[in-house]
Amino acid sequence: MLIGREHEQQAIDRLVSGARIGASGVLAVTGEAGVGKTALLRWTEGRLEGFRVLRATGTEPEREVPFAGLLAVLRPTLGLLETIAPPQARALAAALAMDEGPAGDRFAIGAATLSLLCRYAEEAPVAVLLDDVHLLDRPSAGALVFAARRLSSDPVAMFVVGRAGEADDLVEGLDGLVLSGLDRGAARSLVDRLAPAPVTDAWLARVHELTGGNPLAIAELAEDPDALLASGSDVPPPLSSALAATFTRRVRLLDPAARPVLLVAVVCNGDLRLTGAVCASLALDVARLADAQHAGLADVVGGEVTFRHPLLRAALYRDSAPEERMAVHAAVARALPGDDVDRRAWHLSESLWAPDAGVAEMLDGAGERAAARSAYAVASTAYERAARLSPGLDDLAVRLVAAADNAWAAGLGPRALALLDELAATTLAPELATGALELRAAIAVRSGSVREAAALLERAAAETGSADARAVLLAEALHAILFLADGAAAGRLVDELTRAVAAATSTRARAIGTVAAGMAKVLAGRGGIDDLRAAVPLLAGSEELRADARGVSWLMYAPLFIRDAQTGRELRARVDEARARAGVGMLPGLLFLVARDGAASDSWARAAADYTEAIRLARDTGQTAELAMSLAGLSWLESRTGQEAACRMHAAEALALCGSRDIHWGEAWALFSLGDLELALGNPAAALVHLRELDGLLGRLCVGDPDLSPRAELVDVLLRLGQVDEATRTAAAYAEAADAKGQPWARARARRCLGLVATSDFDAPFLEALALHEETPDRFETARTALAYGARLRRAGRRVDAREHLRLALDVFAALGAEVWADQAATELDLTGERVPRRAVGGVASLTPQELQVAVLLADGRTTREAAAALFLSPKTVEYHLRKVYTKLDIRSREELAAVIRR
Ligand SMILES: Nc1ncnc2c1ncn2[C@@H]1O[C@H](COP(=O)(O)OP(=O)(O)O)[C@@H](O)[C@H]1O
Ligand SMILES: [Mg+2]
Repeated sequence: MLIGREHEQQAIDRLVSGARIGASGVLAVTGEAGVGKTALLRWTEGRLEGFRVLRATGTEPEREVPFAGLLAVLRPTLGLLETIAPPQARALAAALAMDEGPAGDRFAIGAATLSLLCRYAEEAPVAVLLDDVHLLDRPSAGALVFAARRLSSDPVAMFVVGRAGEADDLVEGLDGLVLSGLDRGAARSLVDRLAPAPVTDAWLARVHELTGGNPLAIAELAEDPDALLASGSDVPPPLSSALAATFTRRVRLLDPAARPVLLVAVVCNGDLRLTGAVCASLALDVARLADAQHAGLADVVGGEVTFRHPLLRAALYRDSAPEERMAVHAAVARALPGDDVDRRAWHLSESLWAPDAGVAEMLDGAGERAAARSAYAVASTAYERAARLSPGLDDLAVRLVAAADNAWAAGLGPRALALLDELAATTLAPELATGALELRAAIAVRSGSVREAAALLERAAAETGSADARAVLLAEALHAILFLADGAAAGRLVDELTRAVAAATSTRARAIGTVAAGMAKVLAGRGGIDDLRAAVPLLAGSEELRADARGVSWLMYAPLFIRDAQTGRELRARVDEARARAGVGMLPGLLFLVARDGAASDSWARAAADYTEAIRLARDTGQTAELAMSLAGLSWLESRTGQEAACRMHAAEALALCGSRDIHWGEAWALFSLGDLELALGNPAAALVHLRELDGLLGRLCVGDPDLSPRAELVDVLLRLGQVDEATRTAAAYAEAADAKGQPWARARARRCLGLVATSDFDAPFLEALALHEETPDRFETARTALAYGARLRRAGRRVDAREHLRLALDVFAALGAEVWADQAATELDLTGERVPRRAVGGVASLTPQELQVAVLLADGRTTREAAAALFLSPKTVEYHLRKVYTKLDIRSREELAAVIRR
């Protein structure tokens, strides 16, 4: 019977009844050991009538078994594996060792878990009960929590229970409930039930104070009320160690012949058959488990030994002599079935006093097998243990680097760095040293200092003996420098990159090196377009590159920097490939680039949807650089569609992230969007502050690329503020930089500025600008020029000429959804005497980003299931959003939807 906990019970009942009618709910319950988490979970089970219950409980020994927890949860659902999206099914099958297939992205397993749970829930509501998640193997916990974060419109209730302090990072972002001790009244009920004789109020008050209401501690004291009086101390020891001490005391009271049997059961993780076999081999009598049962320490049910509490297992294990523990581990290793190599390796490793090449080798194999199933966290621990058991220093170093590598693949950056730090004083073989530097750099790019990453990569490039490796390392350094938007650093790298490419022999190294050289030159304002063009056939021709994740992202940069009509299609094809392979971890980077392409041409709705998805996935996968860039990109888009509040919010988050990591590229975009937003809203003074800040930043960074420059907007703002001289100077300087680069996009913008500041013949520069815009896909810029030109014509009294341009501007702005700008064009048209009917805002602009994502994918002809798989959501969630889309757009069919989105 559960005592107290009324508030918690209500929360659980709400969640359960919601799930019953298809509103998924997740509750993360955390609290200290013994506070009553498992008891609450048992009570919950009683409320789940009509549900199918899936469950897993983490235990210390299973922690290093790849996907042991996930398999326990999903076993009843596996018959449905073939009904989920094939790439997800393959990733899951490989993870659960049902299939030989190659390891997928670790997030693909989470996506597959979600799909399978929701598929299972189509037949009846499903409850997932996870106890002691801090002891689940990490890959399983990761996959289950990924699924939990994305549950929304399915009949699924999920309870994630774990120890406070140890499970907190896992359950971050989930609805949480922190379980604290029982109140005094509940404590009294508990004691009355358990104490052999009535206890006084004074006793109870003292116990409640000492235990903070922890029921396990109360129960221990209630069974032996006099023990408290004996202890006497006023300063309570930390609760868990006090509880452990109680358990130790109780274990020591067991018959000496029963204690080792219980230890065997602990080491065998409660597996009764294994316990029996091990006891036999150690000449112990397994029947002595009955003693533990009588003492209320353990229970034997259904071939399994269950312990009163996990703290008891820990206490018993820790209280045993090391040689005794080691003997038991050795016996378990011998008794395990022949094919259970990984478990044997772990037990053997616990049975050794000194390094042992054979066991180290076995653990190395366990690491390799875990990595092959994408259980990178498990692999990392196995490699680390293998390293510590390696007699030779060379093996030790190789295995520590492998442990660090896998920790990083599992998303455990600090652990990876700590492992690498251990090697700091060791002289490594050249290839291993390069590998270690690359890993450090990868961690720094993603979650540390980007500047440090660039320096590390340059160092690795200088130290490596391989010409191909040098070209690739320098390219990676340039990639970091791109995030830093450091034109000076890029300029320094140009010659080195050129030399490295000349010396490189593999197509991969030459292709990547050439793109990077082109990008470096662009950033430094020293040409570069020719290199980028030369790199395209190299990149496209390499099968090897198409298959490799880093290669793909390089492939994406060239068209984005060149910017021609093919760009969008090429990029989108890559995203579809990544989605088809369920490469969740790759998607934030890819989606960011596609979104950028859409935002810089005429696919704004799609771009907003892509940015939003990139942001969501980057948050889920902990990729802060990608997160910052997509936030900045989205705010940039919102500054143009006039979504003021969203723009400010996203820009602020981007600026905070970028500021902490030196990501000046994103900082530049965010400043630009704030400036352009103010300009659009008619606040030139506020716009001036942001644009000047941006201009100053780019100057300090020696960014020579006129495409990043806000000078065109600055000229507009200065004129509105009446600062004609400065506007004229700025326009001239900008035109010079744009002509030096020689690409039409910036040249067109520069001509627009010259038209704006021209004192007499302004037609020539504006007409030139419009002609140049024709060569670029950026319709918004065309419309800005048309608006500026039209407004000047109107002010010059040439109303008929003005109308032609203002109408063009209005049409383009309206089609793009640039509402504020459309209003400005309409106002100008009004002033020429042409009446413009004001359009009602609504339509696509009224959709939330997630609704937009769903709408875009379905409008492309995907089925609900396909869209769900592409977005890593459940089909029910997709349908839920689709219903909202239909209502908001007042449409009834996919055909109508496709028509609206195309418009
Ligand atoms: N609300 C409660 N009412 C009655 N007994 C409880 C309550 N909460 C916990 N207990 C008892 O206290 C002990 C420890 O609780 P448990 O749920 O195992 O703790 P946790 O899982 O948080 O470590 C168990 O014996 C349990 O039955
Ligand atoms: Mg528990």
